[in-house]
Amino acid sequence: MKEMTVKSTIKNYKVYISNNLNEFFDVIKTYENNGKIFLITEDIVYKLYKDTIKSIESKVNCSTFCFENGEENKSIDTVKKIYDFLLENGANRESILIGLGGGLVGDIVGFTASTYMRGIKFINIPTTMLSQIDSCIGGKVGYNYNGVKNLIGNFFNPQFVYVCPHFLDTLNDKQFKDGLGELIKYGVIDSQEFYDYIRNNYKDILMKDKDKLIYVIEKCLNIKKNVVEQDFKDTGLRNILNFGHTVGHAVEISSNFDISHGEAVALGTLTALKISEHKFNISTDIYNSVEDLIKKLGLHTTCKINDYSSFIATIRHDKKNDDKIRFVLIYGSFGDYKIKVEVSEDEILRALKESIDK
Ligand SMILES: NC(=O)c1ccc[n+]([C@@H]2O[C@H](COP(=O)([O-])OP(=O)(O)OC[C@H]3O[C@@H](n4cnc5c(N)ncnc54)[C@H](O)[C@@H]3O)[C@@H](O)[C@H]2O)c1
Repeated sequence: MKEMTVKSTIKNYKVYISNNLNEFFDVIKTYENNGKIFLITEDIVYKLYKDTIKSIESKVNCSTFCFENGEENKSIDTVKKIYDFLLENGANRESILIGLGGGLVGDIVGFTASTYMRGIKFINIPTTMLSQIDSCIGGKVGYNYNGVKNLIGNFFNPQFVYVCPHFLDTLNDKQFKDGLGELIKYGVIDSQEFYDYIRNNYKDILMKDKDKLIYVIEKCLNIKKNVVEQDFKDTGLRNILNFGHTVGHAVEISSNFDISHGEAVALGTLTALKISEHKFNISTDIYNSVEDLIKKLGLHTTCKINDYSSFIATIRHDKKNDDKIRFVLIYGSFGDYKIKVEVSEDEILRALKESIDK
C-alpha cells in the first residue's frame, strides 16, 4: 500500500493507495474512534458494490444512506436528506461519515460532514477515475445551487482518503475516459517525464492495468498535493489546476453537457496550447503530440462551436474570470506554465479556429 500525507493549515491527512480493498479495514482500525460511523453513497455505486458495503457495515459497524445519483441531485435537498438520516440515527460530534462514490459523493458528503454539528469526521473513498486522480484531495466540498455549479461550499479536509483502483473496473468507457481528460492536463502541467509516461503507457492505462493506474493516480495526487499545500484557499497558484478548463467549461455548457467534463478539458487543453503557441511561440510539436495522445485515448479533438459570441460570453461569466479573460498557458515545454495570463477575445477566437473548431 502507498501512503502520502497532505499538509494543510487546517488539518494534515493521509491518502492511502492500495490494490486491496481489505486494507481499508486495517487503516480505519488505526484511527481512534468513539463514535458511530455512517456510510453515504449514491444508488449506482450502491447497486454495484452492495457486497462491499455489507462487508464495511459489518466490519466497522456502520449504517448506510443512499441518495439518487446525478449532478441534479448535488443539491441542498440531498444535503438535508443526509442531515435527517444522521439526526434520526443519533449522529453526534464523535460520528464519522464515509463517502463512497465519485466526485459528486465526495463533494456532497464532505460538505455535510463540514457543517453537521459544526464539523464531524469524514473519510473519502473515491470510486471514479476523476475522483481518484483529482477531486479526492484539496478540500473543496459543496453542492450546486440555483443552477450554479458548486455555488455553496466549504474548504474541509477528510480524516483520510482511501483510493482503490479496483473500483475503476466497473466504470463504463465514457466515465473512465472522463478522468483521462484530467490525466492529460496533469501530464501537460507537470513535466515532459510524466507526459511521456502517459504517452508510452496509454494502452495499459486504457486496459486499466492496476500497477500503471496506481502510478498515475499517485503522481497526479502528488502534483495536486504540492499545489494545494501552497494555496489551499485557491487565491493564486491553485489556478494551475484549471489548465484547459477556461475553454473546457464553455464547451461543456454550450454542448448542454453532452460533452462530458473530462472530454471538454481535453478540448480546452488543445485550445490553451494553441494560444500558448501564438503568445509564447512554443513548439507546434507539443500541440501535435497532445492532439495525437487525446485521439489515442479515445477522446474527441474537435467540436463545432455554433455561436461564438455566446461561447465567449460563457467564458466571461466563468467565476474564475474578473473583467479580463485569463488563461493558464504553457510558455516553454511541458511543466513550464504561467497562470492568469490575459488573453483577448480575438486571440481566443483565432485559437479556437486553429484547434478544436477546425
Ligand atoms: N472537489 C473537487 O476538487 C472537485 C474537482 C473536480 C470535480 N469535482 C466534482 O466532481 C463531480 C464529478 O465527479 P465524477 O466524474 O466522479 O462524477 P460522479 O460522481 O457523478 O460519477 C460519474 C458517474 O459514475 C458512476 N460511478 C461512480 N463510481 C462508479 C464505479 N466505481 N463504477 C461504475 N460507476 C460508477 C456514478 O454513479 C455516476 O453516474 C462533479 O460534481 C464536480 O463538480 C470536484
